Amino acid sequence: MILIQFTGLSGSGKTTLAKNVKLLLTKNGHKAEIVDGDVYRTTLCKDLGFSKKDRCENVRRLFNVSQDFIQSEIIVLMSVINPYEDLRNELSQHDFVRTVFLDCSLDNLIKRDPKGLYKKALLPDNDHNKIKNFTGISDVYEVPLKADLTLKTDSESESISTNKLYTFILDNLSNTTYKQ
Ligand code: ADX
Repeated sequence: MILIQFTGLSGSGKTTLAKNVKLLLTKNGHKAEIVDGDVYRTTLCKDLGFSKKDRCENVRRLFNVSQDFIQSEIIVLMSVINPYEDLRNELSQHDFVRTVFLDCSLDNLIKRDPKGLYKKALLPDNDHNKIKNFTGISDVYEVPLKADLTLKTDSESESISTNKLYTFILDNLSNTTYKQ
């Protein structure tokens, strides 16, 4: 079994790639689930904000949910910013975890900005619409030093990234085991 621990800035393509790959996997007879930060932040993680403590708690809770899926032999795509190297390394101690870094330049993210969040994060301090502690702008994002796979989502097409990730999952599926 395999749990993909994504890491990457907001808008780097985590949810899009997770959805594309889930579709490919299920079409080919595999069971797969997406555990998405944006979704769980409206339910299980509703009480959490964006301090370091809360982000770590968020990732830990999502990891627990993911482990339940893994136990049921379901491939998991854990789609969260997951900004801290120490916590990522802690999770990747588990044999079934692989770290996938979606590498996209901040310049491109600010240009694309589909949710309009970067625009809000870049507002002047006195603007009441400003989003504070925004990852990559006013909060830390630690670039992973040892990702198992890096996808350059601003220079390669969505289908190339999707296929690379799909192939990576199939290649790793047989050499990962589930141990709690
Ligand atoms: S994590 O840091 O705890 O891993 P998570 O992936 O759950 O983050 O949530 C990130 C999403 O929350 C972003 O894609 C964005 O939609 C939204 N968001 C709202 N405020 C912030 C913020 N201050 N920093 C980052 N993302 C934010």
